Amino acid sequence: MIRIDENKISVNDFNYLTDRVGWGTRNEKVVEEALNNTLYSVSIYDDNKIIGYGRIIGDKTIFLYIQDIMVIPEYQGQKIGTKIMNTLIKKIDEYQKVNPNIRTYLGASKGKEKFYEKFGFKTRSSVDLGEGMILF
Ligand SMILES: CC(C)(COP(=O)(O)OP(=O)(O)OC[C@H]1O[C@@H](n2cnc3c(N)ncnc32)[C@H](O)[C@@H]1OP(=O)(O)O)[C@@H](O)C(=O)NCCC(=O)NCCS
Repeated sequence: MIRIDENKISVNDFNYLTDRVGWGTRNEKVVEEALNNTLYSVSIYDDNKIIGYGRIIGDKTIFLYIQDIMVIPEYQGQKIGTKIMNTLIKKIDEYQKVNPNIRTYLGASKGKEKFYEKFGFKTRSSVDLGEGMILF
């Protein structure tokens, strides 16, 4: 049975997911601190097995970032990513009550833009804004 949990994921499960979607794993202490500093997250389980995840980081009132949206390959295409995004957006709607002008960003992986467009996200260039940039 598919279950959704808020703000609850183990370091092992997080590393399992990043590995399964091809991003590799990170040092456990690094992951632990990142998860502790996360504003809000959702984890999806099939019975007790982790199959998906997504989180919001940010300052809660002015800027939010959606990060680490992951569904393991054998569960992709079954609307699990949609469930994750809709749950995060519900939380963003709550934050928005404090500041209606709160801004939510995300950095889409190459080829994933169409998935995020379904939830109202637009590429910056399509709304006449400059490129998103990253320190590399
Ligand atoms: C991207 C990802 C989260 C999508 O999750 P998912 O559970 O497979 O997506 P869903 O089944 O909820 O799909 C919802 C819709 O998005 C579309 N979609 C999903 N992935 C897509 C893609 N890569 N490109 C275009 N459309 C996509 C689906 O076709 C579906 O469209 P529909 O509503 O018209 O049927 C998942 O494929 C994944 O984890 N990929 C690997 C990790 C990754 O790249 N994450 C994104 C980081 S930015």
